[in-house]
Amino acid sequence: MSVAAIADETAIHDCVRRFYDAARADDLLGPVFNGWIKDWDAHLTTMDNFWSGALLATERYKAAPFPPHLKLKMGQEHFDRWRELWVPAVEASLPEPIKSKAISISEHMAHCWGRAYLTMTSEMA
Ligand code: HEM
Repeated sequence: MSVAAIADETAIHDCVRRFYDAARADDLLGPVFNGWIKDWDAHLTTMDNFWSGALLATERYKAAPFPPHLKLKMGQEHFDRWRELWVPAVEASLPEPIKSKAISISEHMAHCWGRAYLTMTSEMA
């Protein structure tokens, strides 16, 4: 791995932890994360892998990220809050060009995932 790639992976690692420190303390997202996630080391490693895949096109994350969310009880406000906490974590941790990429992906995630999630969970209700 190149020095630049190692720096990016380290920045992603920091960003993920910065985000989860804020999310676990958040009044809306905290109860969902803290209620479901039992093994935080494993979850943070999964998230490192997911974002490494999304931002650096590594293939460390091989699962489907959306289905595990279908069992949670969330509304659009959860996705909006997710983005409100994710963007400052990105701005504080990631260098360009992955900073801009992580912010633009998050727009897609919050809106498209939010809509898809709400449609699918209302059909299941
Ligand atoms: C919209 C942006 C989001 C992204 C990109 C995202 C990404 C992910 C990924 C990659 C996983 C791991 C899935 C796996 O096990 O392979 C995960 C799990 C999880 N996410 Fe999200 N997530 C998002 C929003 C949210 C929101 C808003 C919440 C609400 C608090 C949430 C709560 C969870 C929980 C509780 C898990 C663990 C589920 C389990 O393992 O049983 N996520 N997420």
